[in-house]
Amino acid sequence: MTLQGRHIVLGISGGIAAYKSATLLRLLIKEGAEVQVVMTPSGKEFITPATMAALSGKPVVSEFFAANTGEWHSHVDLGLWADLMIVAPATACTIAKMATGVADNMLITTYLSAKEPVMVAPAMDLDMFAHPTTRRNLETLRGDGVIVLDSPSGELASGLSGKGRMLEPEQILEAVKRHFSALQQDYSGKRVLVTAGPTRESIDPVRYIGNHSSGKMGFALSAEFASRGAEVDLILGPTPVTPELPATVRVHRVESALDMLKSVEENYGECDVAVFAAAVADYRPLHPAETKIKREKRETMSIELVSNPDIAAEMGRRKRTGQINVGFALETDNGVENAIGKMQRKNLDMVVLNPAGNKDAGFNADTNRITIITTPGNKARELPLLSKRDCAKAIADSIAALSEAAKR
Ligand code: C5P
Repeated sequence: MTLQGRHIVLGISGGIAAYKSATLLRLLIKEGAEVQVVMTPSGKEFITPATMAALSGKPVVSEFFAANTGEWHSHVDLGLWADLMIVAPATACTIAKMATGVADNMLITTYLSAKEPVMVAPAMDLDMFAHPTTRRNLETLRGDGVIVLDSPSGELASGLSGKGRMLEPEQILEAVKRHFSALQQDYSGKRVLVTAGPTRESIDPVRYIGNHSSGKMGFALSAEFASRGAEVDLILGPTPVTPELPATVRVHRVESALDMLKSVEENYGECDVAVFAAAVADYRPLHPAETKIKREKRETMSIELVSNPDIAAEMGRRKRTGQINVGFALETDNGVENAIGKMQRKNLDMVVLNPAGNKDAGFNADTNRITIITTPGNKARELPLLSKRDCAKAIADSIAALSEAAKR
């Protein structure tokens, strides 16, 4: 049962190969997946929703509203529920609609709301498959990060023979299994650098400028990457929380932003993925006092501050092909827009946005409410309130999907 607990949306459009989708559905269920079938109106002409509902154990979603109750079918909820969407068969028409966003049926609205990776198994006649329009549309989908499965040569429904057949259900199942197993072992042999916690900027030998960061998100990330086979270097600022970490995580303790930069510089060159989760102080005292500053009956005093280096931006400049840099953003307003700006300024491949000022999310909390924004296409994936470990899982999955997409 290699797909145990996986949530899959199976989209079926109107091609003769739709009869094979029943077999694919059975194979997915047999491997332990939970499958929600979404059909286009013409898909229903080729295989009945009753068959697919019986095999999946769930009512098929096809209309925007349930006919009997008028209840709205939420494609947004489906996007949050699913770990993978497979469109099989994907006809020339559905591929064209996916490529251009013609959202006139439930399958396309589900695709446009998909936060999960999407796989398509094209199925059409050889001339349609060879047509420059179809080629262009498939290229667009690939560029958008969609996994386009092969369409082998063979006998077609028209009686002709050539390229355009849908992959056999068993082969699609293999591709699905490969996809999930790549996500699971994706970090073996990889080095991941994580920065976490606050920094302390000395005012004098006993005082400092700091912040409330606990480092908990960085601990969760380090533990998650390590459990998926990565070698992890955690560059950790001074936090009172004692991390419970696998022995394989190398912890480098640092105090100030300058210490953190030095340690990151020592470890960045070798890493495949760097996640900057630390709350680095933006400024430090320009001239920290060598001895304790006396009160001396002053009513006011000022400390001149100088800007700290931006560690994430500096590593963004040094990034080589194949390295993935991920940053965090804590925003009070215009979150996604500001996060995209940050992604560009710091040459990041992904930004994890968390809200500011929430009790159950962000600084010090054990839970978080994150939005993952990735290149290309700046797709924003908003997740519900989750434990920081579950957030770490989602972040690790998204990074793995990003590096898989880069290889294609
Ligand atoms: O610009 P801002 O501080 O909002 O950016 C946050 C992101 O940049 C986080 O990933 C944080 O770890 C990183 N950062 C850094 N060095 C700094 C400031 C922020 O690495 N001096």
